[in-house]
Amino acid sequence: MTDLLENMKRTHHCCELRNTDIGREVVLMGWAAHRRDHGGVIFVDLRDREGITQIVFNPEISTEVHGKAQEIRSEYVLGVRGKVIARPDDMINPNMKTGAVEVIISELRIFSRAKTPIFQIEDRTEASESVRLQYRYLDLRRSQLKNNLLARHKATLAIRNYLDNKGFIDIETPFLTRSTPEGARDYLVPSRVNPGNFYALPQSPQLFKQLLMIAGFDRYYQIVKCFRDEDLRADRQPEFTQIDMELSFVTEQDIMEIAEGMIVTIFKKVLDMDLVTPFPRMTYDEAMARFGIDRPDIRFGLELCDVSDIVKDTGFKVFANAVKNGGLVKAVNAKGCSSFTRKQIDELTEFAAIYKAKGLAWIRIKEDEWQSPIAKFFTDAEKEALRQRLDLEIGDIVFFVADSVKITNEALGQLRNELARRLNLISDNTFSFTWVTHFPLVEYDETEKRYQALHHPFTSPHEEDIEKLETDPLSIKSRAYDLVLNGIEIGGGSIRIHSTDLQANVFKCLGINEEEANEKFGFLLNALASGAPPHGGIAFGLDRLIMLLMKEDSIRNVIAFPKTQKATCPMTEAPSKASAAQLMELGIKVSATE
Ligand code: AMO
Ligand code: AMP
Repeated sequence: MTDLLENMKRTHHCCELRNTDIGREVVLMGWAAHRRDHGGVIFVDLRDREGITQIVFNPEISTEVHGKAQEIRSEYVLGVRGKVIARPDDMINPNMKTGAVEVIISELRIFSRAKTPIFQIEDRTEASESVRLQYRYLDLRRSQLKNNLLARHKATLAIRNYLDNKGFIDIETPFLTRSTPEGARDYLVPSRVNPGNFYALPQSPQLFKQLLMIAGFDRYYQIVKCFRDEDLRADRQPEFTQIDMELSFVTEQDIMEIAEGMIVTIFKKVLDMDLVTPFPRMTYDEAMARFGIDRPDIRFGLELCDVSDIVKDTGFKVFANAVKNGGLVKAVNAKGCSSFTRKQIDELTEFAAIYKAKGLAWIRIKEDEWQSPIAKFFTDAEKEALRQRLDLEIGDIVFFVADSVKITNEALGQLRNELARRLNLISDNTFSFTWVTHFPLVEYDETEKRYQALHHPFTSPHEEDIEKLETDPLSIKSRAYDLVLNGIEIGGGSIRIHSTDLQANVFKCLGINEEEANEKFGFLLNALASGAPPHGGIAFGLDRLIMLLMKEDSIRNVIAFPKTQKATCPMTEAPSKASAAQLMELGIKVSATE
């Protein structure tokens, strides 16, 4: 390889040359993006990481070089020497940074020939995602993915500088560890030297970062891989990256301010955009009441409205019974949408059913009547009350869900998002942040018949609620907070429990008895008893943040080598079977077939 590069040292990247370089001799290296033959003159777009420069092979300059240039095909890797010249006026491309110039080539070296690429390397590709993932190295040549990864790099650099300035220390925590509960399944790694035993890959560095606070590090951060075996979606990967931090001697307010400062810095450095802080805050109860969801998209209105009190005795028994059974009747008024067809309403009903709604009642507000299968059940007083509460005007259509609190909120909250998508109410260019605070500490898990931590079991309850741990756990608010951007949770954290007794009591409330607590978390309880500072922290999903920043709709487009929805890698074909010898060494017998 050395002789290929002998006496040929790159002088510029392919994005750099301008009018001011005209007359210079330059050396460029890169991939042949396009080759066009124009009456003997050959034009090639030479592409490298930074951009594209047009290079020209003219037989009048050198027949030998021109002859060799005829061999060039897409994705050949070239080194070229030549002179920068101005493009003829009618060939200037104002959309290209280097569009005013071209390089007339006097020396060409073909470093590598390439097979015809399986898909064209273009800004927007028609290739299917599975093909793109199988040939990821080709996909990564496309400017879209390349720009995403460059943005990701800019972001992590900005994060490191910002956190360093704020006194944070980057400390690595282990990947081969014990379970770190964050609500997903663990990825297990068998231990060869301890047969029959398994490490768990961390779902987050949660316990380690708390132990670092107890060790006295005061402020820790890490940009770290986390592993969660859960059902995948557009915004979820089995291995993903957190910007993870923990601080001692702080309140929620301190952590939110530092986190906001970090987000502001990222937006400034990556998008040159100025965000306004503080970000709005709302409690979990407010988020559920107004949006039905704990990660509200506040870029549009369509807020939910509780009408349970108005319809609690109504003739439409579905509504009255929902209230009697401790549930809710909530509504959303789609203003000006009374022209929705039956088909559209049916589609929305099916959509609500995904979230377990048993139906979707609706009323069209027409000039002379309320058009609806259920209008006949309402008294004039009920109608008037609904009209006022929901601000019903001619031309509106209002949708109702009546069910348990959980189903009503979720189905109508999701319907609200769906309506906004269908009505084009969501501006692509807006970044709407909101903090959600005061989450419930626990929720009741019907299948397991026990309480579960909403955040994780190390989150502190509010001081004034602690006494309710035994009597009324569902009413306890935690000191947890999430940061939501455009309806997606990009970060979450909490003030932690720093007393052994309180931690033991919370474990008890979660149905983890003393023996199990000691077996699983004895090291934490011991550490808490060794002088633990008040502490708290937060973790952001880096991939999600970059996805939103770059206006991508899939997290896979901001990760160099992501997994498919089925947690596979089409390129390396991971996961794969282990050999009989490997399994024997690990003492493992596999019973699963495919
Ligand atoms: P949490 O579980 O909320 O908190 O995770 C923090 C953030 O990580 C992102 N995230 C994911 N991103 C991509 N794929 C996934 N599968 C995935 N799961 C989570 C989300 C989320 O907001 N230890 C706590 C943090 C703390 O208390 O400090 C934790 O892990 O953007
Ligand atoms: P039905 O009386 O079952 O024909 O329902 C009349 C209307 O009420 C239909 O539009 C149903 O979709 C709707 N509906 C039925 N159950 C519910 C429910 N739990 N919440 C909201 N609407 C419902």
